[in-house]
Amino acid sequence: MPDLHDATRGRLLYGADYNPEQWPEETWQEDVRLMRQAGVTTVTVGVFSWARLEPTPGAYEFGWLDRLLDLLHAHGIGVVLATPTASPPPWLGHLHPETLPRAENGTTVWYGSRNQFCPSSPTYRRHAAAITEQLAARYGAHPALVMWHINNEYGTHCWCDATAAHFRRWLRDRHGTLDGLNSAWGTAFWSQHYADWDEILPPRQAQYIRNPAQLLDFARFTSDALLECYTAEHAVVARHSPAVPVTTNHMPFWRGQDGWAWAKEQDVVALDIYPDPADALGAQHGALVQDLARSLAGGPWMLMEQAAGAVNWRPVNRPKPAGLMRLWSLQAVARGADAVCFFQWRQSRQGAEKFHSAMLPHSGPRNRVYREAAALGADLDRLGPAVAGAPVPADTALLHDWDAWWAGEQPGRPSELLDYRENVTAWHRALWEANHTTDLAHPAADLTRYRMVVIPSLYLLTDTALDNLAHYVRTGGTLVCGWFTGVADHQDRIRPGGVDARLLDVLGLAAVHQWWPLNEGETLRCTGTEDFPSSLWAEELETAGAETVARYADGDLAGLPAVTRHAYGAGAAWYLSTRPEPDALRALLTRAARAAGLRPTVEGLPAGVEAVRRGELLFLLNHGPEQAKCEVPGHWDDLLTGHRLAATVALERHGAAVLRPAAP
Ligand code: GLA
Ligand code: GLA
Repeated sequence: MPDLHDATRGRLLYGADYNPEQWPEETWQEDVRLMRQAGVTTVTVGVFSWARLEPTPGAYEFGWLDRLLDLLHAHGIGVVLATPTASPPPWLGHLHPETLPRAENGTTVWYGSRNQFCPSSPTYRRHAAAITEQLAARYGAHPALVMWHINNEYGTHCWCDATAAHFRRWLRDRHGTLDGLNSAWGTAFWSQHYADWDEILPPRQAQYIRNPAQLLDFARFTSDALLECYTAEHAVVARHSPAVPVTTNHMPFWRGQDGWAWAKEQDVVALDIYPDPADALGAQHGALVQDLARSLAGGPWMLMEQAAGAVNWRPVNRPKPAGLMRLWSLQAVARGADAVCFFQWRQSRQGAEKFHSAMLPHSGPRNRVYREAAALGADLDRLGPAVAGAPVPADTALLHDWDAWWAGEQPGRPSELLDYRENVTAWHRALWEANHTTDLAHPAADLTRYRMVVIPSLYLLTDTALDNLAHYVRTGGTLVCGWFTGVADHQDRIRPGGVDARLLDVLGLAAVHQWWPLNEGETLRCTGTEDFPSSLWAEELETAGAETVARYADGDLAGLPAVTRHAYGAGAAWYLSTRPEPDALRALLTRAARAAGLRPTVEGLPAGVEAVRRGELLFLLNHGPEQAKCEVPGHWDDLLTGHRLAATVALERHGAAVLRPAAP
């Protein structure tokens, strides 16, 4: 199977979504000139071009795309060619309303925006396959083609009758019989027993809390239904161009598709990353999503979209100050990206995204954004040969699973304040601030190469995952496990005893007697080696062998253990039954890491400086508000400046260095 290397060929790809159908063809000439000047290697074309390519059913217009691909090729710019199936033309919804999604309450989601397709609709799938076949047959051997891009940010949900029929087929495959389904969904409660497959529906709007196992299966089903759409188009383009890698782009830390399942079907994992420039932790949000992308890919990945400046979909959309776009782009490269691209090349003057930034802003190439984009193109060109394909070593893994996310965030739970994404972000932040490079891993993955594994919270864990964790600790691993973990099985049945017995055994706990969620703003004091406040959640624990690292010092649980540690086999298992405030969480994870023999990537860096190793290179990235002086023992060549350095590196605000060891 082809992979990202087949597109990069030892350099870093650099470019953007290019939507030239918005402009007269004369403008294209200026576009390619300015692209060249900015060091653009690659553009993604055709993402939303269906109505232009097939203006009426079955009548194709490829002349403009022929001219465009030839023009790009003549200027040495490669093409990531998209299938346009994320935005069907109005005629499809008009002639075939059954292709339009239905919301949970049965209302139709109309055309007039984008993404209006039902993934289960046979009519949608037929039309999507037809346009994909046309594109693949026509351009599969085009010399400009470097990659296929299927659809865009899959994420549509639908509750229509075709979806219902498709859901029933999926459920038959999963559960075999109606008895199996009734048992898995616990339909004995509330008179929900199904006597006929035809009675079963996607979880539509209902009077009160809906069946959680049904909701969980529907989330799984929707991910699978979208994946079928992806693999169908992937198969078409791969048949025409078997040596060209195929991808689709995900949203930043998206909820709707099981990334572990999807990554297996993609030749290239591609992500869109949009941290808020006004967010003091924007860089950490970027790092988290970059770590996720690298982990899903198992190696280099593609930054398919980022913003050159402001987006237009937050309540307030801040541009990036000077240097930030470069800094965050280099951060992506440090964390494994072999391609750095933007949405979009030239800023729109019309349509829904006319206020979204682009590499080439409304005010033209004199704009700082374009000038910075061109400078970045030169940086990436310099870095390419040393960086492309190089691995990012990580000793720590953070366990993440969509099933646990879906099951743990349903209505009817102990606290609606538990937010899966926010919690993962908090734990990742602690490791990021301590400069421990972290992979994300599936709970059933082979964990033996990691010195430390952390679980922010995984409400659902399968038997396989639980056995895997026990094996990991028994054979010498260090596990740091957060609250509300190991509670449910694969069908969202509460484990006998409330928490799985195997996990309790590893943690040295007898039982978790009560969940003790805290209100917004409520804190508890915990005492141990150090005192710290905690919030969000607490638990009434009973230990059985674990030592108490910190206790609750006030509130209803005063005197009971809050944080525990247990020697188990050759390893150690820590348990956090509450959420320490950020400094304390960092201190606890650092302590566990040190005990596991781990050291940060570089010791003693000023706060705000991120250090990441990629291959033999050391990336230093200054996210702090002012200049930072970093002590890095040894002699180095800074690949960005060409300067030779010894031991000290001064980084300006938003400054970065990419260091290669040099002879003294
Ligand atoms: C109501 C209902 C019960 C149960 C409780 C839960 O009283 O009648 O069936 O759902 O709420 O608090
Ligand atoms: C997503 C989409 C793009 C564009 C950007 C705007 O990433 O894939 O088409 O809408 O958002 O930020």
